[in-house]
Amino acid sequence: MEELKIRRGEKAIYDIVLNDSYESFQLRLVELGINHSKVCIVCDSNTAGLFLKAVRDIFMSVPGIGSVVTFEFPAGESQKTLKNVERLYTVLIENHFERTDYLVALGGGVVGDLTGYAAATYLRGIRFIQLPTTLLSDVDSSIGGKTGVDFMSYKNMVGAFHQPSLVFINTDVLSSLPGRQFASGMAEVIKHSLIADPDYFSFLKDNVSSIKSLSSAHIEKTIYKSLLIKGRVVEEDPEEKGLRRLLNFGHTIGHAIEKLSDFVLFHGECVSIGIMGASFISMKRGYISESDLNAINDLLSSYDLPVKVPEIRKNLDPETVLRATKSDKKMAKGRINFVLLRSVGEGFVDSTVTDDEMLSAIDFCLN
Ligand SMILES: NC(=O)c1ccc[n+]([C@@H]2O[C@H](COP(=O)([O-])OP(=O)(O)OC[C@H]3O[C@@H](n4cnc5c(N)ncnc54)[C@H](O)[C@@H]3O)[C@@H](O)[C@H]2O)c1
Ligand SMILES: [Zn+2]
Repeated sequence: MEELKIRRGEKAIYDIVLNDSYESFQLRLVELGINHSKVCIVCDSNTAGLFLKAVRDIFMSVPGIGSVVTFEFPAGESQKTLKNVERLYTVLIENHFERTDYLVALGGGVVGDLTGYAAATYLRGIRFIQLPTTLLSDVDSSIGGKTGVDFMSYKNMVGAFHQPSLVFINTDVLSSLPGRQFASGMAEVIKHSLIADPDYFSFLKDNVSSIKSLSSAHIEKTIYKSLLIKGRVVEEDPEEKGLRRLLNFGHTIGHAIEKLSDFVLFHGECVSIGIMGASFISMKRGYISESDLNAINDLLSSYDLPVKVPEIRKNLDPETVLRATKSDKKMAKGRINFVLLRSVGEGFVDSTVTDDEMLSAIDFCLN
């Protein structure tokens, strides 16, 4: 079991607990002082069948707990909507939820983002607990306090910063996660290693089969290392004014491809391709070597991630992808804040990347 605290200045604002079961979860709830509160567990149609009963039983076993209600919505990104937030508000109002009560997000990033947004806005903010169940939500979406929903065709258009009271990660639940979803989370993991920690990159390279087969020690170490990196970045820059932009490594080209592929490709798959594009520019500028670029290519591939735009989307034209990168939110005064690698394990933000450099990187991702 591992544990870390996310701080704001000197003050600890929440704990992240990492375990291979829900065994110590009840104790954590007691320590949090959740007894006498009401709880609404939010899940999607997949996590409901898989984990809801076990998690509900744990809440019910907390001495003095108020009522435990549940809210379920169909799985999928298309469900991360204000409509579902409204349905959730309705459940909370009908059950007389007050400021001292809790929402619990039991699921991946979709459940976490939607639940967090409802918690940020219901009664101007109530508390919530993250129980992430995908690798992506373990290492990325459940920490940092970004919450939100999609609006019209815009991803994460409506949202708020709202910190959880507790994040409890149970690595055992990953055993039911489909392989493509696991790989998608690995793209963010590999991103963390590339921007911040060369030893972590080597660890991921040396332990591919143990990590993919979910060896408890290896998966725990992987998630922990990623949490340390993301945790440190969000502590220093909670509202994405500077350092946090590093986490966008691979996301400028990645997001453009994601949008243009009509979401046929998963987010992490597009990030993987975007990582190759950003690494290509880093190589062309002489920061990393060609053998570094090959090592990054091989690591992504070994976790079953695409390194080029797949055949079905090869008809994308580089100019169209370039235009899509410019409609991305990550622009500052017309310039793209692009994250490059100074070396394997060190990222930095650069706003001098030219259209020609972008086009050659996009071309590299397409061919
Ligand atoms: N808030 C943030 O900082 C942040 C960061 C990154 C991503 N996100 C958001 O996260 C979302 C993506 O998250 P995701 O990849 O977890 O997607 P997701 O929540 O849609 O989960 C992926 C699929 O796996 C299923 N699932 C979840 N846990 C499972 C398990 N243990 N076993 C079997 N199936 C399981 C889900 O029902 C879903 O079908 C996006 O909406 C993205 O915008 C947010
Ligand atoms: Zn991402």
